[in-house]
Amino acid sequence: MEIKKITKAGAKDNVVFLVATEKEIDNKFFSKEELSYLKAKIKEDAKVIAINRLSSIAFVVISGKDEDYKARQTTRKNASKVVDIVNENKLSSITIVSDLSITTDFIEGAILSNYQFLKYYSDKKANSLQKINVVGKITKAQIDEVVNITYATNSAKDLVNEPQSFLNAEQLSKEIKRLGKEAGFKVEVLGKAKIEALKMGGLLAVNKGSIDPPTFSVLEWKPKNVKNKRPIILVGKGVVYDTGGLSLKPTANSMDIMKCDMGGAAAVVGAIYAVAKNKLPIHVITLVPATDNRPSGNAYAPGDVITMHNKKTVEVLNTDAEGRMILADALSYAQKYKPELVIDAATLTGAAVAAIGHYGIVAMGNADEKTMNKLKDSGNNVYERIVEFPFWDEYNEQLKSSIADLTNLGNGSGGSITAGKFLEHFTDYPYIHLDIAGPAWMKTKVDYVSKGGSGSGVRIFYDFIKNY
Ligand code: BES
Ligand code: MN
Ligand code: ZN
Repeated sequence: MEIKKITKAGAKDNVVFLVATEKEIDNKFFSKEELSYLKAKIKEDAKVIAINRLSSIAFVVISGKDEDYKARQTTRKNASKVVDIVNENKLSSITIVSDLSITTDFIEGAILSNYQFLKYYSDKKANSLQKINVVGKITKAQIDEVVNITYATNSAKDLVNEPQSFLNAEQLSKEIKRLGKEAGFKVEVLGKAKIEALKMGGLLAVNKGSIDPPTFSVLEWKPKNVKNKRPIILVGKGVVYDTGGLSLKPTANSMDIMKCDMGGAAAVVGAIYAVAKNKLPIHVITLVPATDNRPSGNAYAPGDVITMHNKKTVEVLNTDAEGRMILADALSYAQKYKPELVIDAATLTGAAVAAIGHYGIVAMGNADEKTMNKLKDSGNNVYERIVEFPFWDEYNEQLKSSIADLTNLGNGSGGSITAGKFLEHFTDYPYIHLDIAGPAWMKTKVDYVSKGGSGSGVRIFYDFIKNY
């Protein structure tokens, strides 16, 4: 999508008047008839009004006076309504006319809404909308920022939508390298030999059943003007496909969407992409352990005891609890950077989906309250809301093993929390865990949130780091 600031809307443009209240509607632009139509629609409480002029469509979008996070969300949703009408009518461009600060949210909603994943269709029916012009107070810098954020989010969707027949661990690392080149962050990919040398027992155990080698990608953004002394580290679960392994997934059809199990990886890669492209002065490191999880003659098995990267031993009681095995090694690897804060994103538990569905992100952690609240604020800002679960030590009781330091399986109650508590054993820094199993994958498009991979997490991390 091409986004451009222009000085004046053309006579034949599909103009979108984005106004706070009906009072700001520019009467000059509309005929008498159109004005009375607008009036009637406003009376019906319509917020997105389309006037079809045959050679063009004019839109009036009434956003309300508020500019809080709810209003920003309404604006993104309104943008998706406009985009739907534009594509239905095969229009190729719109011209937004507005001086409101939520213009950027409108652009964000429009670009996210217009996303498609067409790679595997022979007949690629691309949306007609390809160009957005903007007239108003918005600056070039603001436009660039939102373009970079949405590009990063849409790239994360691409990664999730790619099936494992293309995106195995090595391919994921290649994609990460490509994105690094584009955005200017450094990428180092550790291959199997290096992972063995580092004794990442968790990642290697999950990878045992695979025909493809694992990878461990280390991404770094450290511009000259960094403000933080010690890095923020983002860790993403990169299970490119999750069959459950020998503890094969028991629920009918639950495997169908398991290419989404690297949604955490996509989130943290998209995040550092947006941070680097927008040149935020914050030192960020992203770690992505990646493999698929499948059964085979050599697959790790229930009962196995694995020595992890930090030397702790884990009794595997369910090979489908593989995310925590690979994340644990990444979290313990993160210790060497003496990070200020580590946040992971992972499609970790069905329990998170059962608890809150796709409506939000389950969070927990031991970082201070202020940090958690900042992250929740970012969740609200981008409307990927975060709900905090307890992180009480009592949950550790479920992780006691009769043969090793820990087991990888709780007893089923509070399953998202026991997963988080397991991970905490591999940290020695302020830590927050985000379980994005619900929102990472959407059954259907909801407003501007895409069907399939949703890019969940990217915009939260960007907003959080920007406000850090
Ligand atoms: N990748 C799954 C979690 C998941 C479920 C992601 C639904 C997206 C949608 C994870 O690896 C998993 O299998 N978790 C198990 C853990 C259990 C065996 C302790 C689960 O939640 O059932
Ligand atoms: Mn699993
Ligand atoms: Zn998984």
